[in-house]
Amino acid sequence: MDKYVTGAVIRKLRESKGLTQEELADKLFVSSKAVSKWETCRGLPDISLLEPLADSLGISVIELLSGEDIRNLNRSSNITKGEFYVCPVCGNIISSVGGAVISCCGITLPPLEAEPADAEHGIQIQIAEDEYYVTVGHPMTKTHYISFLAAVSDNGVQFVKLYPEGNAEARFKIGGIKKILACCNRHGLFWIKPGR
Ligand SMILES: [Fe+2]
Repeated sequence: MDKYVTGAVIRKLRESKGLTQEELADKLFVSSKAVSKWETCRGLPDISLLEPLADSLGISVIELLSGEDIRNLNRSSNITKGEFYVCPVCGNIISSVGGAVISCCGITLPPLEAEPADAEHGIQIQIAEDEYYVTVGHPMTKTHYISFLAAVSDNGVQFVKLYPEGNAEARFKIGGIKKILACCNRHGLFWIKPGR
């Protein structure tokens, strides 16, 4: 475990459940002062309380530790809302359809936030028969390169891992693609919407 529940998370979840500090305290057989202390970073619940605490808040212990009520997120959301996670240590890349708690090399990975492609990370798309031929005008050196390209559609992700000194290019089957993403190892994730 590289993360323990925080006071801010307890407060957020308690409030979203419509519980007062007293009501939560009663469920856990602790004092409301104890709950108040957790929420204001003057103490943390004993590990033996994690399970009852999660129960009281209507979530799993994993969700409690991750700080997110994953079950309340829209799980049926289509894959275009999926997330990408990159391990800064080993470079592993993981994509998920919805919110997830992902860890690699002992680190809990935050989902990468994609930003619109900028001038340095311009994504060019050409149509070649039934494929998009995607290139990025970007260095591909050992220390600064595009680490993957991905095409996200409603029913899946097409994904191409790239390596330094290779070309920043990939081909994707056009059907249903909503977003093309390029990940720079230094600057993060960029996206562009392909226009037909
Ligand atoms: Fe870059």
